[in-house]
Amino acid sequence: MKLKWLFAPLSLIIATTAFAHEDVKNPTVKARMMAMSNIAGQMKTLGGMAKGAVAFDLEQAKAALAEIEKTAKTVPALFKDNETDPKSEALPAIWSNYADFTAKSYAMTSAAANALTSFASQDDLVPSMQALGGSCKGCHSAYRK
Ligand code: HEC
Repeated sequence: MKLKWLFAPLSLIIATTAFAHEDVKNPTVKARMMAMSNIAGQMKTLGGMAKGAVAFDLEQAKAALAEIEKTAKTVPALFKDNETDPKSEALPAIWSNYADFTAKSYAMTSAAANALTSFASQDDLVPSMQALGGSCKGCHSAYRK
């Protein structure tokens, strides 16, 4: 399938550690993991529509993007304190490069916001997901184990 190049790497981002936060003791770590899981869940909704596994629904797609934008805005604060947990995959580099981490988080927020400003049809799914997927990867490759 033509979209495979997009979905193969993306499903890795989305699925690798689904529910890894289940037995996390540190509430700060758990909160940030749950925010990430929420973002990944919205990406899954968009991906399902892009692949045709789920019928396209404009309002639902926009709601998913809006939820990503809203949650992305909370990421800098969720990661502000250098908290850890045996289950955490966050790298210590976050707290020695916090400004850069914040910038990478902002890239996700603006990818969602930009996608929303012009989102009008099914054709907008793939470019939106590409832009968002780039922002996930940009941060994970630097700051996630
Ligand atoms: C600004 C940096 C940053 C951005 C942008 C980012 N992530 Fe993350 N993500 C992290 C870090 C750091 C962790 C590890 C958190 C931990 O384990 O303490 C993480 C963890 C995750 C997890 C695992 C959650 C869990 O329950 O363990 C998923 C899933 C995830 N991210 C999906 C995404 C998706 C999808 C995107 C893009 C739409 C994204 N992330 C964008 C930094 C980021």
